[in-house]
Amino acid sequence: MPKEIFKVYNEVFDARTLKVLEKLRKEYFEELESCISTGKEANVFRASAKKGFVAVKIFRMYTSSFDKMSPYILGDPRFNRVSKKKHEIIYLWAKKEFRNLSKAFESGVRVPKPLAFNQNVLVMEFIGENGLASPLLKDVKLENYAQYYDEIIKGMIKLYKSNLIHADLSEFNILHFNEKPVFIDMGQSVLKEHPNAMNFLKKDLHNINKFFEKKCKTISFEEFIKKAKKK
Ligand SMILES: Nc1ncnc2c1ncn2[C@@H]1O[C@H](COP(=O)(O)OP(=O)(O)OP(=O)(O)O)[C@@H](O)[C@H]1O
Ligand SMILES: [Mg+2]
Repeated sequence: MPKEIFKVYNEVFDARTLKVLEKLRKEYFEELESCISTGKEANVFRASAKKGFVAVKIFRMYTSSFDKMSPYILGDPRFNRVSKKKHEIIYLWAKKEFRNLSKAFESGVRVPKPLAFNQNVLVMEFIGENGLASPLLKDVKLENYAQYYDEIIKGMIKLYKSNLIHADLSEFNILHFNEKPVFIDMGQSVLKEHPNAMNFLKKDLHNINKFFEKKCKTISFEEFIKKAKKK
């Protein structure tokens, strides 16, 4: 194995993580096949499953920048007693992403269907076609920007109504699948009660508006809130 690949392999697949994967493997997937992405905190893999594929997100136990996680966990009433131990914070993060995805999915928001989590590993629906992961919104040219913008706003409103704020929404965390947006990466998502929820929501809308403002009409934060409270 080339040295660089070996280094990455060791960072992701520490002994504990291998045990967790072995547990999930029996039930949710067959083999990890290819790495779709190496992000700041996690690696995402495509895995073969009985029917097609699943996506497996592995939060790295040693090289994730987990200091950034605490502002999203502190203030969340669901996670009142937060441990200071790094591995427990990472487990909590995976659990939080699973819960956030579940809540979003049940509310009819287009997100990957969460299938399982165990410690630092999250298994979810694979978003893509013929084994090829869907591209991110930032990398695609759209046919109708106004319509797409509207779809994203609708998704954000559905989230809001189900009491969730994505809190890291942008063209980097939206997959383009079947001509429609799919929100991903919800570890940091917070409940509306979170003391910073409205600032996170403003930031989300700002990011989306920035991406779309040269292509179509966008709405202000006040208009967004009005729409969200009405429908
Ligand atoms: N369910 C999925 N199906 C297909 N591809 C996915 C899925 N989930 C994530 N990906 C791919 O993996 C990438 C990383 O996923 P995600 O954003 O959840 O992780 P992350 O570690 O927070 O990444 P980053 O640090 O880059 O934001 C995504 O940009 C996307 O390309
Ligand atoms: Mg991401």
